[in-house]
Amino acid sequence: MFTLGTQTLNSQGHLEIGGCDAVELADQFGTPLIVMDEAHIRARMRAMRAAFDAQNAPVHIIYASKAFPCLAIAKIAAQEGLWIDVASAGELLTALRADFPTERIIFHGNNKSVEELEMAVEARIGRVVVDNFDELDLLDQIAADAGIRQQIMLRLTPRVDAHTHRLIQTGRIDTKFGFNIDGGMARRGVEIALTKEHLELIGVGCHIGSQILEAPFFTLAARLMCEFLAQVRDDLGVQFDQLDLGGGLGIRYLPSHEPPSMDEYVATMVGTVRENCERLGLEMPQLAVEPGRSLVGEAGTTLYRVGTIKVIPEVRTYVSVDGGLSDNPRPALYEAKYFALNASRASETDLERVAIAGKHCETDVLIEETDIAAPARGDVIAVYSTGAYAYAMASNYNRFRRPAVVLVNDGEADTIIERETLEDVLSHDLIPDRLRAEGAREGADVGAMSAV
Ligand code: LLP
Repeated sequence: MFTLGTQTLNSQGHLEIGGCDAVELADQFGTPLIVMDEAHIRARMRAMRAAFDAQNAPVHIIYASKAFPCLAIAKIAAQEGLWIDVASAGELLTALRADFPTERIIFHGNNKSVEELEMAVEARIGRVVVDNFDELDLLDQIAADAGIRQQIMLRLTPRVDAHTHRLIQTGRIDTKFGFNIDGGMARRGVEIALTKEHLELIGVGCHIGSQILEAPFFTLAARLMCEFLAQVRDDLGVQFDQLDLGGGLGIRYLPSHEPPSMDEYVATMVGTVRENCERLGLEMPQLAVEPGRSLVGEAGTTLYRVGTIKVIPEVRTYVSVDGGLSDNPRPALYEAKYFALNASRASETDLERVAIAGKHCETDVLIEETDIAAPARGDVIAVYSTGAYAYAMASNYNRFRRPAVVLVNDGEADTIIERETLEDVLSHDLIPDRLRAEGAREGADVGAMSAV
């Protein structure tokens, strides 16, 4: 049986996660249910740290909270000594409400609003990662008004076309993100940042994309960033000692996926930075990384309940479950592949090839082909590796309620996000008075329109 983290097969023949029987979790909390494996999250955070320790490289590990922004996971990241990356007012508020030490919060984004920058400055967060010229001016003014000097990094775009889905590649020249190194935009960004009285430029960073399964893309980015550091030292006479290499390490969605291990990822990256610093006569910078998916992705499992099963002889069997596009848009958006297991019959070895379909008014097939024990209505299907960018991107499409999330550990399961109620879903709808009035259809607007 393919297992991740603490997943195992229990004596009932059911999938177990964090010592909790998946079928019992589904009965107790309802479905769809996202189960987050606390031990696995902590183990990944510690493995990342251990990998840098093994290389003797001081590092700031910054949890990219967009992967799964919620209070409980922010708490875990804080307890594990991580930093946190936020990319919106909502993510910032989440970090603040989780009492995340503010000096370990960094703010990313290509179009931060004035309100967001003010909120960041007011909260005295550690760093703002400035993405463009316009933001340098805005933030300088906001910091001046607050009477502080804000530490900043610049987000640079080295030219790296990582092999990943086109929508999650961000290192290309043609991207909305960051200051491109090619063409001199990044150098100009540094020059201007250095003139800002209320900004303290402490380093540079990049993020080349996500779900990257080949280490050479990271080493290429690291080399280009070191070359940039050498260039600004030579041209502008400044040396930065902070280098942030972003996130992007891929995870296992399928048994056939073989992402670099954390040790391999860290060793190649640190090795590249060391080599290039030596070659270019630079001091070794203080490194930072911003992993999201690789910390929480494999720790999440979505449990669904099987409903209708449609058999089209010699074509396909559609096993429909009680969620889909609204709790996981990734298959539709990125053609993402997932692995599924019939958690109710996890010990059966006789497998059947089926498609797992959602229940939205769309062709929301979660998995086109997967081999699972022949399911029956009511079985619990587990879809693996849904901890990153599934709940985070969930919607209310078809007015579905967003699912509940439980955190499991050592046989205990605690709700960390409640399932929305139908009332929650409708809670922001309003009916203007003029629609309530009798005869509203004969109103002025309709008259005006018919006159056109
Ligand atoms: N740092 C920055 C500046 C980022 O933009 C991101 C992700 C990360 C770090 C974390 O990357 P990770 O380690 O998780 O790969 N919704 C897409 C992924 C979008 C990633 C956005 N940025 C998906 O579902 O695949």
